[in-house]
Amino acid sequence: MKAIILSGGKGTRLRPLTYSGAKQLVPVANKPILFYCIDNIVQAGITDVGIIISPETGEEIKRAVGDGSRWGISIEYIQQDVPGGLAHAIKTARNFLAGSSFIMYLGDNLIGTRIDTFVREFNDNSPEALILLKEVDNPKQFGVADVTKEGKVLRLIEKPEVPPSNLALVGIYIFSPKIHEAIDRIRPSKRGELEITDAIQELIDMGCKVESFILEMWWLDTGKKDDMLTANVIVLDEWLKAGIDAKVDDKSNILGRVSIGKGSVVRESKIRGPVVIGENTVVENSFIGPYTSIGNSVKIVRSSVEHSVIMDGSELNEIERLEESLIGRNVRIFRNNKLHKALRLMIGDDSVVEV
Ligand code: TTP
Repeated sequence: MKAIILSGGKGTRLRPLTYSGAKQLVPVANKPILFYCIDNIVQAGITDVGIIISPETGEEIKRAVGDGSRWGISIEYIQQDVPGGLAHAIKTARNFLAGSSFIMYLGDNLIGTRIDTFVREFNDNSPEALILLKEVDNPKQFGVADVTKEGKVLRLIEKPEVPPSNLALVGIYIFSPKIHEAIDRIRPSKRGELEITDAIQELIDMGCKVESFILEMWWLDTGKKDDMLTANVIVLDEWLKAGIDAKVDDKSNILGRVSIGKGSVVRESKIRGPVVIGENTVVENSFIGPYTSIGNSVKIVRSSVEHSVIMDGSELNEIERLEESLIGRNVRIFRNNKLHKALRLMIGDDSVVEV
């Protein structure tokens, strides 16, 4: 079995971060989301992986991921010239897939479990497609499946007015090569994309066996700010290992699970885990509260932060209380005491500032 990871797309919902970089490389607990996808595929024993990239962010993804040797696998890059939809991405990867069964993993999806049982189920039952489903509270906002008690898929509906179930399609699928035939038979949707839901529905209409697997653990589509922060909380809570490789002075106090990387310095500060701090970062006279991820080469001085993600190269100076915030790379936030109660901002397009 092979795998393709979809790391193209537009990433409009995560702007402005995605103006300057790929959304699949946005870090969760200081590790790019895409790396969690690769880890999961490798754990399932798959060594032949293709990553779908866009012309805009492809080079950045190649630089971050490399040839796969870090995971002991081979990674090939497949450029999709336009974000023509998930089924279009499969079409683009047809040569790479070369008649093999394959996993399709969306590069911005994060799940709280391994996928080997899902792969085993596909190998044992040999359906033409096995889709991963998750119970959600708001099925109207998702692609939803109508399934029998045994898990056979009867119908798929994109964002239904009247949902037939509360089972949403998670961005991880396994297909036999039969999916290519179904994709050849579908047409672009109203939004101009070749939709994977239409291709799977076509498989069902062709009389093929399409089965489902219900995910019990959490699932996050990290394409939006709030989901990113939730992903940060869950991953820090469940997977963070403590380890301090930094200089911490004796006036500082660190409690709970905290990981701090090489070359970082903590002076006269309080840190309450779970917190991850990268390399060459300085924290001075500050409070870092639970569920915070701070990247490399960040500087935090006389500030208080919690429940936030602060990416590489950013700086906070005299910020009383920053909460539930997602701060991109090389951002500077500082207090100017001369400006009474005035805000002075230089913010990129599509930013959100709550004061
Ligand atoms: P989406 O989040 O559905 O689409 P998007 O990346 O364009 O984001 P937005 O809705 O915010 O504009 O895509 C899911 C994943 O699949 C994501 O990792 C991008 C990838 N993708 C492709 O590789 N090719 C495509 O044609 C599309 C639509 C998505």
